[in-house]
Amino acid sequence: MPTSARRPSSLLKRSLATVAAVALASSLAACGGGSLSSTGSSGSTDSVKIGLVVPASGVYEPLGIDMTRGFELYLDEHNGELGGKKVEVVKADEGEGPETGVPATTKVITQDKVQVVVGIVNSATALGVKDTLTRSKVPLVVANAGADQLTDGSAYLWRTSFTNGGVGETLGADVAGEVSGPVYLMASDYAAGRESVAGFKKSFEAAGGKVAGETYTPFGTTSDYQPYLTKAQNSKAAAVYVFYAGAEAVNFVKQYSSFGMKDVPLYAAGFLTEGGVLEAQGAAALGIKTALHYSNLIDTPENKNFVAAYTKAYDAAPTVYAVQAYDAAAALDAALEKLDSVNGESIAEALGDIGEIASPRGPWSFDEKHNPDQPYFLREVKDVGGTLGNAVLSQLNE
Ligand code: PHB
Repeated sequence: MPTSARRPSSLLKRSLATVAAVALASSLAACGGGSLSSTGSSGSTDSVKIGLVVPASGVYEPLGIDMTRGFELYLDEHNGELGGKKVEVVKADEGEGPETGVPATTKVITQDKVQVVVGIVNSATALGVKDTLTRSKVPLVVANAGADQLTDGSAYLWRTSFTNGGVGETLGADVAGEVSGPVYLMASDYAAGRESVAGFKKSFEAAGGKVAGETYTPFGTTSDYQPYLTKAQNSKAAAVYVFYAGAEAVNFVKQYSSFGMKDVPLYAAGFLTEGGVLEAQGAAALGIKTALHYSNLIDTPENKNFVAAYTKAYDAAPTVYAVQAYDAAAALDAALEKLDSVNGESIAEALGDIGEIASPRGPWSFDEKHNPDQPYFLREVKDVGGTLGNAVLSQLNE
């Protein structure tokens, strides 16, 4: 974990980052206000303006809350500075999908003139803003969206999270070895769900697994999964693999259990049981096995320190979403450290040269496509000392 200068006493109070932002905004106002746009394009030396675009509404709102917390925790641990530069954060609501997320991102680039954007949960939104960012020469540090085609080597796209296909693919071979019989595939019907299933299927079939059938549920509007679960049940599958996250994950898991599927082993990309959704699912989630690049139960000093700081600050356990945003701040910290003149182009270039990040998830670094080269874990929902948690069973990609 990046060294922390000090721990915040209470992040429930106004964060230091916000205080820094207010101070910076007032000093800019005092010298004529409009100077921000020229600061944004020509390159500042002692400050950086960051657009934090995550959902504050819609099915992925809880993910946005965790990401904001992770990002602000890192800033608070570093005196509101990244790479020795004062940080001003401009927040915008990504909402549920591209119809809200694209204008929110465009606004922070064109109106607020941020020098870098952090966030974006939804794959469709990320794909929708990709070209604008590259054209505007404003880097995006994607702290969640997993769209496989998002990072194609564009100098302005960097990702501290995962690829959808990559998460699914790490699990397929294990499931093929563990389950005797065909597996049914189900997912939310948009880029993330389809790619997650495709990745799983690739390694599952390569390891000799047979698919019993597949079905996709309309994203954001499905509240009744029973017609789809009927198909899975009729297929006589020996197990099911799914991709659901946020509010969809809660509904799905509860209905899977109450529909009489509890005895059919459920496998998933780990978002299904991550964080607040697990609490809401309750006992219905017990026994679900997932693949993910984090669990707050990882037994390392780096993770234990992070969990303690996060829990103290927010009275809640951290999630993968919080870690991805915490690491986005860590990556920018390392990149900005190298810069005298801060602008979109210089940040994008410096991100290519930061080396390894010592994260709560374990060490990772950007690969040639700007995605994290990182550990993945097989996890199982268990009762851990009276609380449901994602117990780590093994590392999948050793
Ligand atoms: C995505 O749209 O890429 C996505 C959204 C939520 C998740 C994971 C992936 O939990």
